[in-house]
Amino acid sequence: MHISSLLPLSLLLGSLSPAGAIPVAESAIDALQGRHDGYHYGSDLASRGFSDVKIVARDGPEFWMESIKHQGISPMGPSEYTVFRNVKDFGAKGDGVTDDTEAINNAISSGTRCGQGCFSSTTTPAVVYFPSGSYVISAPIFDYYNTIIIGNPNSLPVIKASSGFKGGYLIDGDPYFSADPNWPATTVFWRQVRNFVLDTTAVAAGTQISGIHWPTAQATSLQNIVFQLSADQGTEHQGIFCESGSAGFAGDLVFNGGKIGAALGNQQFTMRNLTFNNAVTAISHFWNWGWTYQGITINNCQLGIDISTGGSEQQSVGSITLFDSSFANTPVAIKSAKTDSSAPQTAGSIILENVALDNVGVVVEGPNGTVLAGSPGSSVIAAWGQGNQYTPTGPTKVAGDITPVSRPAGLLDGQMYYQRSKPQYESLSASSFSSVRDGGAKGDGTTDDTAALQSVIDSAAGSGKVVYMDAGVYKVTNTLKIPANSKIVGEAYPVIMSSGDFFNNMDSPKPVIQVGQAGDQGQVELSDLILSTQGPQAGAILIQWNIASPSAPAGLWDVHARVGGFAGSQQTTAQCAKTTDSSDVNKNCIAAYMLMHVTPSASNLYMENCWLWVSDHDVDVQTEADGGQITLYSGRGLNVESTEGNIWLSGTSVEHSSLYQYQFASTKNVYMGQIQTETAYYQPNPNALTPFTPNTAIHDPEFASSCSGSTGNCALGWGLRVVDSTDLYVYGAGLYSFFNNYDATCSAYGGPQNCQNSIFSIEGASEISVYNLNVLGSKSLVDQDGKSLASYSDNIGVFTNNIAYFTTK
Ligand SMILES: *[C@@H]1O[C@H](CO)[C@@H](O)[C@H](O)[C@H]1NC(C)=O
Ligand SMILES: *[C@@H]1O[C@H](CO)[C@@H](O)[C@H](O)[C@H]1NC(C)=O
Repeated sequence: MHISSLLPLSLLLGSLSPAGAIPVAESAIDALQGRHDGYHYGSDLASRGFSDVKIVARDGPEFWMESIKHQGISPMGPSEYTVFRNVKDFGAKGDGVTDDTEAINNAISSGTRCGQGCFSSTTTPAVVYFPSGSYVISAPIFDYYNTIIIGNPNSLPVIKASSGFKGGYLIDGDPYFSADPNWPATTVFWRQVRNFVLDTTAVAAGTQISGIHWPTAQATSLQNIVFQLSADQGTEHQGIFCESGSAGFAGDLVFNGGKIGAALGNQQFTMRNLTFNNAVTAISHFWNWGWTYQGITINNCQLGIDISTGGSEQQSVGSITLFDSSFANTPVAIKSAKTDSSAPQTAGSIILENVALDNVGVVVEGPNGTVLAGSPGSSVIAAWGQGNQYTPTGPTKVAGDITPVSRPAGLLDGQMYYQRSKPQYESLSASSFSSVRDGGAKGDGTTDDTAALQSVIDSAAGSGKVVYMDAGVYKVTNTLKIPANSKIVGEAYPVIMSSGDFFNNMDSPKPVIQVGQAGDQGQVELSDLILSTQGPQAGAILIQWNIASPSAPAGLWDVHARVGGFAGSQQTTAQCAKTTDSSDVNKNCIAAYMLMHVTPSASNLYMENCWLWVSDHDVDVQTEADGGQITLYSGRGLNVESTEGNIWLSGTSVEHSSLYQYQFASTKNVYMGQIQTETAYYQPNPNALTPFTPNTAIHDPEFASSCSGSTGNCALGWGLRVVDSTDLYVYGAGLYSFFNNYDATCSAYGGPQNCQNSIFSIEGASEISVYNLNVLGSKSLVDQDGKSLASYSDNIGVFTNNIAYFTTK
């Protein structure tokens, strides 16, 4: 994340013009959402038009989550705190008639939770569960911090606005109680909404209303939601309204009707498997730096994707990457403001790959008319790009066909990239799950739970059960071994926290969880978990992935690393407050050796919406002054050394490790869809070589050759490093370096972009292609064997600097 208090809102909106004009996005925000509507929780039904509402509640097969024993806890939270809340236990009826607003809001807010005026919290997680039914609401549902809202996936609950609905959104993920949202959007982490129909159709078509207000940051997701919006003439309804943040993932969404299906502004996002039917405009961007769209289907809309905001003089949309997607019966697929002379220079960059058309008038329309013509019948665009292109023959500007990447067969399902949504095990009953608390683990943050967890994991793998990790903080003092065929699902992001001397020797690193042994084969699925460390853990490898999964890819969904910066971590403002004098590293603030290691024996691994984060601030400090910044050291981010490869990274990010964020060494066949990094804020004081000494056995960078003869900020952590690897395909990347020793001057728009010399290094015999590479704060955008191939100044974008298509091939 990047803390907003350090940057003006206009900058976070990403549309700050060189002249400092008012961001385009802000006026749009005011106009679109009735942001100053208050909340009216009460029971004045008539004034809210309840007489008009006629919905028949449906029943469906029960979901195991409803009947499983609920015994999750929050050890650092308020006493008597309840994690799991079924809205019916709070009086919601779901009968299609009763006003359930107050009951639902009580289910979310009860206990001492992080709502209005709270900065952020890790100590009050909640799962708010909706059985199937139709829940009528007359005012917004206020989605508190660290909340997972889940409906029955076997029969999606409907959340239906009454005709007299007061407010801008059915679910408000970050309310405007004042001129600013309750939480800075870039600090809204660890939340989900899944398995719902959000229905605005009882509200007059001309009323501005959105299904969900979703300005969020990393480790957040929307999954399996149908937006049912008015398709009447003059409709003002919208599905998603997201004006800011640094996210994130959304998938399996269907939008029916509406003026705009998804109205979007955010630094970066990965969106996969979205269908838009009968909207005026399917997707409209206020702004972005980079956006990855995989598997988007747009049917019967007037306009598919609008990225023309700001106009040619001041474009506010950086780039979009769209692939394995289709447009049908839509006159204009994409509207762009880019021309030969538009500003900023690279804004409005587009990559299309494997995009099917059926009765599309114009695929890309610019201010001067058609840039790419459509087709009356059906056809497929193999690959097309608009923006700056860097190939081995040199840089060119392109607005036309490009060579599609040659997709390795091992990454495909038919012609398309393999994709798989987070499993919810909806066909299983509660008896198919094995609770770790039933198995004797305490999750209280103090008991050593190693043996109890290991025993539950082993017996579940033997009996084919799914391990249910009840909410809690599970301290482990030795490696947890996850065998082949394990499935583990968490309740409200339970934390597995390493602790003690076993993990604190940087000369003898140890995995916290170890998935398979070298040579093991089998499938493993992990979801909704957080891996953490407590106190100094200089030898901790949070996840070590050894298993090969040749028959069906193994997977990680919403599995995050969070190192330090939370109550109980013993690495908070009390121990590790930010220091700008890092010449003497505080050993108590060395938090991890490596966040994740995919070892040579591992293969066939799918990761979606995983955020590997070394905390830059203390999430449980209630101050916005400097956001509770802390200085922690982790040696390495994600290191992929899989010999066989076949690795999918969908919507992942890695932040603040010292030597690198993503490294690929001696591997092949990797798909990446919007990767995102941030360099450690304290660097270059000290630089990447402190406090960890490079270890050549795991391909650590030594910076000797890359920095030889260079001046300036060399030997800062790589955002992306590729060594002797082939067939790596990146569909969207955001590599950011915001600070030098906590000072953001180096990344200011129009400023020197010299927080570090280089951020992306390709070494040895490597082949890699990157669509929409977005870089901030680095003079060079990409280096090969120590030589810069592209400078930021030739590729100026909206805030990040962009290359639409980079390839070494
Ligand atoms: C895409 O989403 C739809 C609707 O949620 C779902 O039925 C379908 O299985 C998803 N497809 C993939 C490939 O995940
Ligand atoms: C389109 O129009 C602008 C002026 O609006 C002009 O500067 C530009 O060169 C034109 N042509 C192209 C191909 O962009």
